[in-house]
Amino acid sequence: MQMEKLVSLCKRRGFMFQSSEIYGGLNGFWDYGPLGVELKRNIKDAWWHDMCKGHNELLQLNGAPSTYEMVGLDCTILMHPQVWKCSGHYDLFHDFMVDCRVSKKRYRFDQVRGKWVSRGEQKVFVTIMCEPENEQEEVTRRALKFFGLRNKDVGQLVFADVFQSLDKVPAADRVFVLAPDANEANTLTDPREFNLMFKTYVGALSGEEGAAFLRPETAQGIFVNFKNVLDSTRVRIPFGVAQVGKSFRNEITPRNFTFRSREFEQMEIEFFCNPAESPMWYQYWRNRRLQWYTELGLAGERLRLREHEQDELSHYSCGTADIEYAFPFLPEGEYGELEGIAHRGDFDLRSHSEGKLDPKERPLKLELNEHGQPKHRGSGKDLSYRDDLTNERFIPHVIEPSAGADRATLAFLCEAYHEDEAPDEDGKLQSRVVMRLNPRIAPYKAAVFPLVKKDGMPEIAKDIYGALKQKFNVFYDEKAAVGRRYRRQDEIGTPYCITVDSQSLQDKTVTVRDRDTLEQWRVKIDDVVGEIEGRIR
Ligand code: GAP
Repeated sequence: MQMEKLVSLCKRRGFMFQSSEIYGGLNGFWDYGPLGVELKRNIKDAWWHDMCKGHNELLQLNGAPSTYEMVGLDCTILMHPQVWKCSGHYDLFHDFMVDCRVSKKRYRFDQVRGKWVSRGEQKVFVTIMCEPENEQEEVTRRALKFFGLRNKDVGQLVFADVFQSLDKVPAADRVFVLAPDANEANTLTDPREFNLMFKTYVGALSGEEGAAFLRPETAQGIFVNFKNVLDSTRVRIPFGVAQVGKSFRNEITPRNFTFRSREFEQMEIEFFCNPAESPMWYQYWRNRRLQWYTELGLAGERLRLREHEQDELSHYSCGTADIEYAFPFLPEGEYGELEGIAHRGDFDLRSHSEGKLDPKERPLKLELNEHGQPKHRGSGKDLSYRDDLTNERFIPHVIEPSAGADRATLAFLCEAYHEDEAPDEDGKLQSRVVMRLNPRIAPYKAAVFPLVKKDGMPEIAKDIYGALKQKFNVFYDEKAAVGRRYRRQDEIGTPYCITVDSQSLQDKTVTVRDRDTLEQWRVKIDDVVGEIEGRIR
């Protein structure tokens, strides 16, 4: 599937729009249209139901090491700045970026890709920013231009075999780099750290006393409420706290549609357990989360689980696995992260309690008090847990399955997109685009059509529409030929179409058509709601 086709469908049918489009858009920000908002909400609802609200704490399900409880939270986006100091984000949450002195553009150091090209004694590292399938063509075009050659002279150039990212080019060779928007080499600055948190000011204070940050993850709201949850509920370890909400990161190069945005939604669980049991829970959550995507339709080779190498681990993590999807905008064989499942140990609770340093001993910047002593940077609150059965007291370990609602939405859209053929009303095969979305997440569960706009058919169809509408999101359409109406619904993933025809007037039945199999069957009007309800389940 070509990504442009999906992007164009998303805009044309109202899944996603560029934010502030009429003013030229704002890079890295996306709006969800009438269909997109339903799809994303269904995904978030499915996650909330399956992970939190619908979780049965009385049963040991899905291979869990024991029974466990789940509760939810909804925390604020702005929090006390000390939260980000203790979490490590203030000091450590950065990317390396390079600036082009000529074009004034900024790039993420590890995301600029290129290839070595030489002509005789001269060499240049030609960088490009384009779709994977056009990379070689673009390198050739830029290299010819750089050396002042024409197309017919391409034989004078020698290309390296592989593309590589700029951060793999040795520092001494960076003078040969041709930046993506430059015409001469050596215009990029050295890589510099760039904190990804958006800063704002709270209240009337415009100075540093009023400084605050938009949360870059929802997780910290859960950690700082750990004690509140324990004190206000009867949860006992092991238990998890779930939260869905917006997060913000000032990404240097937002790209690939909604994949890397500056404002996005996360679906996070912080699962608190006894340290001795944490390896088992880590395994459980990796499997459970992979299973969730599979059940909702992301299966096969495009979905995989990958354990992180030691040098990839975040500053807090002592084990992380990613659930990854082979998004079609990535080069062949590459996968993009959908969700990370991290074993965070006791880092967060300890840090919010004591202001502890991170496990890799990269010290947070020390603030000194008037006596020149390091200030106490944690909350000073006791965030340990006492097991009332064993009397054991410990700081719980945390397993964190952290998913992106926007990336999940994008992956489900990519997986669902298919082109095939379906017969029209005369039985002639017509090409169609069909979004094979799992009915549970499809924006509309059914569409209702009167075959023609007369003979009382619209009235019957509207009654069926009204009855279905009590239960789910349904679409009513009486415009255009019925074959065209079917195709319009196929294109947005509506699993069932219900048509009122002349036979309906005689025997009070309607046809139901399945989006994927194209099978059609008759159902009594009185049974339509039950029929659709049963199939969607
Ligand atoms: N609390 C841990 C945490 O935030 P992360 O790997 O940085 O971990 C978790 O983010 C998930 O959030 C990612 O797997 C991804 O789905 C989503 N995510 C992160 N940055 C994103 C961005 N810039 N745009 C869209 N989704 C993003």
